[in-house]
Amino acid sequence: RDMRDFIGGLPKCELHLHIEGTLEPELKFALAERNGIELPYASVEEMRATYRFDSLASFLTVYYDGMRVLLHEPDFYDLAMAYLRKAASQNVRYVEMFFDPQAHTGRGVPFDVVVRGLTRAIGDARRELGIRAQLIMCFLRDFQAEYAMATLVQSLAYREWIVGIGLDSDERGNPPAKFAAVYARARAEGYRLTMHCDVDQENSVEHIRQAIEDIGVDRIDHGSNALEDPKLVAAIKERGLGLTVCPVSNSFVVDGIKGAEIRRMLDEGILVTINSDDPAYMDAYVQENLERTQADLGLTEAEVARFEYNAFAIAWLPEDVKDAYI
Ligand code: HPA
Ligand code: ZN
Repeated sequence: RDMRDFIGGLPKCELHLHIEGTLEPELKFALAERNGIELPYASVEEMRATYRFDSLASFLTVYYDGMRVLLHEPDFYDLAMAYLRKAASQNVRYVEMFFDPQAHTGRGVPFDVVVRGLTRAIGDARRELGIRAQLIMCFLRDFQAEYAMATLVQSLAYREWIVGIGLDSDERGNPPAKFAAVYARARAEGYRLTMHCDVDQENSVEHIRQAIEDIGVDRIDHGSNALEDPKLVAAIKERGLGLTVCPVSNSFVVDGIKGAEIRRMLDEGILVTINSDDPAYMDAYVQENLERTQADLGLTEAEVARFEYNAFAIAWLPEDVKDAYI
């Protein structure tokens, strides 16, 4: 049996996925047409050719620009439905998807429109495809903490549709501590807590320390640089914190997939998971991310399966629901 089939057959769980990062060029063109928006590309090929970036900052420029076509509730519905169809086709059974409300409300798109469209798709996908999903609301860390707090308050009317909060966008100069009050309030409101600690940032180790010790996150998105500090490794193991690693995404912003780090996380017994981050821009969904990691590291079937056990173990689902998956 071939490794690709083995990976294809595994029931999978995706925990680090930006729904706006699943906007494929074809859908971007269709939504632009529906909404009467001019795009500066003549073809899908031309658009794809602009998907060249070598850093987080250069990626984010392309990523935010792409969102201009998302205006109405059906746009968010179609975006999420297209992703959930693709994920279901790869035998992904459960997804926790990030969305960036401020990237939409900042353009005049109401919070309600965003959340309603995504939530309607999640409901339909569960009925039609048998895939389950929940939303994680991310704050943009390069904006003020007060703006994040206002967005958090705005979200409370939708509390039952959102499982947790995250933090993304440009990490440079925007440490976790900046959002301590936002995270404290979110915890008090019953949200689960995660945040990005992107690979090889200026103060990666200190940022991860703040996330764990000062904020008290439930898991960390990316987080590979934790391995540089034995105290952080010990804390991650002791608290059972999951790390949502994105190998192909890593290969766009740093050199390679961070394979040695993934190998070490497995050996340390850290709850490492493999995820796709922004698959439309990086041309790799979770299947391809697992295939690439397996090939680069020469992993056994049992080691590949470990990623999915880990993912279901740290998923924000009730234990009795998880039992049906594992
Ligand atoms: N890091 C930071 N911000 C992001 C990412 C990421 O991986 N993807 C989408 N926004
Ligand atoms: Zn991410």
